[in-house]
Amino acid sequence: MRNLTFAANWKMHTGPEDARTFLASFLAASPPKAGRDLWFFPSAVAIEAVATAVQGRADIRVGAQDVHWEPKGAFTGATSIPLARAAGATGALVGHSERRHVFGETDAETAKKVRALLAADATPMLCVGEKLEQREAGETDAVCARQLTAALTGLSAEELARVIIAYEPVWAIGTGKNATPTDAAAAHRAIRGTLAALGLKGRATILYGGSVNAGNIQALLAEKELDGALVGGASLDAKGWAGIVAAG
Ligand code: 13P
Repeated sequence: MRNLTFAANWKMHTGPEDARTFLASFLAASPPKAGRDLWFFPSAVAIEAVATAVQGRADIRVGAQDVHWEPKGAFTGATSIPLARAAGATGALVGHSERRHVFGETDAETAKKVRALLAADATPMLCVGEKLEQREAGETDAVCARQLTAALTGLSAEELARVIIAYEPVWAIGTGKNATPTDAAAAHRAIRGTLAALGLKGRATILYGGSVNAGNIQALLAEKELDGALVGGASLDAKGWAGIVAAG
């Protein structure tokens, strides 16, 4: 049986106090399960609260939603990897579609963040995915390949093996319109092909993200290409999230 990974991206929600309340309820409802890893990506201000609350749960890790590639300096508003680590994070999302398309993050910046995380012995969760017009133009696989190639070219096989991939089609994020399990699986297969061409040996962990909820998680995970899910809106309710991470 494959391992499954469930990641909660809280985006710009849930401060420290709400995070503590969430975790008291979630942890009681969600004991560790063999072969199952959980991640929380809280707002930077709540990383420490989450990391403290999940101490003793080796199956749960905490990450930043974004990091700067420089370890320190005059970068107002940014979070460095050492700062995120000091708060309890051991990884970060990189290249989330909201960073790319709302904040204008480039492929080159994404590549620097992946490298900086690997150099700091932290886990990058690299997000890739196409916009609606790109899907309609049949460019899904080419867009993902370009984003992966830009972010990962030049990494060793050992470094590639430490990167988690999240396939998040932009049109599915926060829209209530998830990719069908078949379409998600097809994109994952193409991503595996690109990763192999980049030098990855072995099987990557590839999560699907985009309007995942309690009603569609089972059908998505029935596709063996999917190694889990990266979830926004449906991860904000403790009981609902406990139900999702029990799926599969
Ligand atoms: P939703 O689950 O709200 O569609 O968000 C997906 C996402 O962006 C996770 O990173």
